Amino acid sequence: MAVDPNRISEELVPEYIRNLAVYQAGKPIDELAREKGLTKISKLASNENPLGPSPFAIKEMTGGLWELHRYPDMHAYALKQSLADLYDLKKENIILGNGSEGIMAYIARAFLQPGSEVLTSEKTFIGFYILARSVGATLKTVPLNSEYRFDVEALAKAITDKTKVIYIANPNNPTGTYISKKEFDYLMEYVPSNVLVILDEAYFEFAKDKGDYPDSMEYRYDNVITLRTFSKAYGLSGIRVGYGFGHEDLIANLTKVKLPFEPNLIAQLGAKGALFDQPHLERTKLINHHGYVRLTTYLKEKGFNPIPSVTNFVTIKLGSPEASNEMFNLLLNEGVIIRPLKANEMPEYVRISIGTTEEMDHFFEAMEKILPQYLDKYGNLL
Ligand SMILES: Cc1ncc(COP(=O)(O)O)c(C=O)c1O
Repeated sequence: MAVDPNRISEELVPEYIRNLAVYQAGKPIDELAREKGLTKISKLASNENPLGPSPFAIKEMTGGLWELHRYPDMHAYALKQSLADLYDLKKENIILGNGSEGIMAYIARAFLQPGSEVLTSEKTFIGFYILARSVGATLKTVPLNSEYRFDVEALAKAITDKTKVIYIANPNNPTGTYISKKEFDYLMEYVPSNVLVILDEAYFEFAKDKGDYPDSMEYRYDNVITLRTFSKAYGLSGIRVGYGFGHEDLIANLTKVKLPFEPNLIAQLGAKGALFDQPHLERTKLINHHGYVRLTTYLKEKGFNPIPSVTNFVTIKLGSPEASNEMFNLLLNEGVIIRPLKANEMPEYVRISIGTTEEMDHFFEAMEKILPQYLDKYGNLL
């Protein structure tokens, strides 16, 4: 019997899933190599650590290969202990997952139902929008303020009896900006104790030295869960490990919906090795700082207006979706992958991750080549 596949999906798949956009990642290096036959490629598209993982992480992971016939420790004792030591916490306050996005998915599964109201900002991490929508939650957003930062006053005003979760990326992706201690304190005065605040601190290591950055370890709110990751400053995007800190009741409930053996064996070992290597982290931050100064100086010299960032990426407004596409495509031809932000609901912008010195040189050379053509068409929008 012939079955109409459209009817099946209409009957089986809830409307909020059918309407979902698929997450779009940065273009992979191999894909560009295949498409254009290029050999020199610099990927500045996914805010990864261009130095790669710590040698300690690699050593730990390599040792783990001999144990791959065994399931990993489902309680990840050793990794949780390392995190507990580093941040002076109890293991009961820690949850691990496949990337911090994996933990976000658990939060959505545990705390949100169709119709639940979730409050956040426009121009923030698209992965969160997708996860909230994937469980049928209603996404309510307020604009960023004029400095591209989360607008805590607007958020406070938008809280209603229906609000269940508030999501704040601090620092924010894709703008690279952050809210200060004062702003966080202000917002928390308005958040009822039965509303869960997700503080997504994926770029924490890059921002934590700013004097007014609200390090969530210094706060102990029962209704705040902090998410961090090994994907960014620790250089381990490929093994997918994230961690969350929160009240033990919250963590216990999240653990109930968590898949038992995440993160996997190699991921647990790599993350533990990375935590051990604080000098690698310091080197990462230093190289990032140099790259940031070079990149923003260059962009300003050429007439662009980079949004001040405390992370490992810089976003610029190019004035139109076509301009953003054009810059992305012209740079691709030169082997440089940046990120047009159409999928992030910011079609007039592009985001550039900070790479090694060599990768940044490649970016500047490519820009010198493409700028005459680009500015000819879109210079008037700057
Ligand atoms: C703000 C933010 N949160 C979370 C993530 C996801 O990180 P992970 O690799 O830990 O899932 C990203 C990745 O780009 C991010 O920018």
